[in-house]
Amino acid sequence: MLLSFIVMIQSASESALVTEIPGLSATLPSKHYSGYVTIDENHGKNLFYYFVESERNPSEDPLVLWLNGGPGCSSFDGFVYEHGPFNFEAAKTKGTLPQLHLNPYSWSKVSNIIYLDSPAGVGFSYSKNRTDYITGDIKTASDSHTFLLKWFELYPEFLANSFFISGESYAGVYVPTLAYEVVKGIDAGLNPVINFKGYLVGNGVTDEDFDGNALVPFAHGMGLISDDLFQEVTNECKGNYNNPLSETCESKLAKVDQEIEDLNIYDILEPCYHGKDTREATAAKIRLPSSFRKLGETDRPLPVRKRMFGRAWPLRAPVRAGRVPTWPQLSNSNHVPCTNDEVATSWLNDASVRKAIHAEDESMVGSWELCTGKIGYDADAGSMIKFHKNLTLRGYRALIFSGDHDMCVPFTGTEAWTRSLGYKIVDEWRPWISSGQVAGYTQGYDNNLTFLTIKGSGHTVPEYKPKEALDFYSRFLAGKAI
Ligand SMILES: *[C@@H]1O[C@H](CO)[C@@H](O)[C@H](O)[C@H]1NC(C)=O
Ligand SMILES: *[C@@H]1O[C@H](CO)[C@@H](O)[C@H](O)[C@H]1NC(C)=O
Ligand SMILES: *[C@@H]1O[C@H](CO)[C@@H](O)[C@H](O)[C@H]1NC(C)=O
Repeated sequence: MLLSFIVMIQSASESALVTEIPGLSATLPSKHYSGYVTIDENHGKNLFYYFVESERNPSEDPLVLWLNGGPGCSSFDGFVYEHGPFNFEAAKTKGTLPQLHLNPYSWSKVSNIIYLDSPAGVGFSYSKNRTDYITGDIKTASDSHTFLLKWFELYPEFLANSFFISGESYAGVYVPTLAYEVVKGIDAGLNPVINFKGYLVGNGVTDEDFDGNALVPFAHGMGLISDDLFQEVTNECKGNYNNPLSETCESKLAKVDQEIEDLNIYDILEPCYHGKDTREATAAKIRLPSSFRKLGETDRPLPVRKRMFGRAWPLRAPVRAGRVPTWPQLSNSNHVPCTNDEVATSWLNDASVRKAIHAEDESMVGSWELCTGKIGYDADAGSMIKFHKNLTLRGYRALIFSGDHDMCVPFTGTEAWTRSLGYKIVDEWRPWISSGQVAGYTQGYDNNLTFLTIKGSGHTVPEYKPKEALDFYSRFLAGKAI
């Protein structure tokens, strides 16, 4: 019986083994697996994952779950554009596959990593019962927890590895809510027992007030609004920009919005693309001096993808309780208007790629979209601060990081909420170093809570600063000071 059990496990993960990657000529540096985990048999609800084994030591290195946000965005955003095993070079001729290169800064250099499309309806994940596409924070966390329990049944050899949960943007909600479910499951004696150690959140949505009040001080500190306007808006709004209580406050805020609305919300240093016809920003559109723009330079194999519009998410629009618009809903189209997702879209919608990575074809899951408007999503878990408190007070390690030139979830809000927990400072604000250069700043708190900035980085940190990102990621996972 034991023998047949082992055989069963082997065949389960063996059928998920990825043997060739269309577009890649190099051999895979580690084993890759991908496929579906059914989390609700009755509904036919299936979550898609892509699992990359560590290129160093799979049995010893930590195991990390990665989640992109949205809500509605596929975690292939992270896989293709941020810290996945490949860099995708766009095809020179239309209709041919992108060329894939090995990514020297892949997070699989130091960890085993699972990219999960969540909730059902996002990326390649789907349900045969469409009512599942109406969901929210609480359901998403419990579904992802079910996924993890079933995933570990398929890959029991990874139960001993330290396990971390990570993500960015709206995953600022997914990560702590899922971590909380995992910990509740451990307390309740659920099997398999997950060896959960901690979590990482990048430019994460956290709390309506802290996030909503972050933009004005950010815009002022970055030199985007004048001292005079800053003083006026501060006087009129009394620091409360999230729920303006007077018309004069509202009108000052409108003026702030006007000053910054042509900037790229994801990275104020990057040019802003206003439409498909104007692929290249004209020099006149870039109001920042070139020395300032050079701040964004780093060592990375391919350029940051072009953002076509400055913003998809409205300015000063923190996530409030209730229905959260998905990015396509906000922009009134099927497309995320600010983002050029061409390489990912052409690669993931190619039939040979889908076959190679065991994704269902179009007839079942439709075409792959970076961010989908297919789901209806309720923010029903409130502020994340109570989750962070609970998890850190119980000894789980947390790294809360911010690309400091992101205007979508500005570091000012994240710095303020981490400080507001009131934990003793154990590592006072200091620069952190990568390749002999200051790569940003960090402040360490009691209860293993670390706040970290990445200098000159936008919203999706490993996309803008892959080398620096691999550095802080490796150090955090190893339990070293960053
Ligand atoms: C879909 O799920 C809902 C809620 O569980 C259920 O009421 C409905 O009957 C299901 N529909 C189908 C076609 O199974
Ligand atoms: C965390 O939450 C759990 C479950 O609600 C509770 O039992 C526990 O006391 C909380 N721990 C802390 C330190 O707040
Ligand atoms: C911080 O994390 C380390 C390593 O996991 C652990 O040994 C230590 O007890 C934690 N410290 C606190 C204050 O929770």
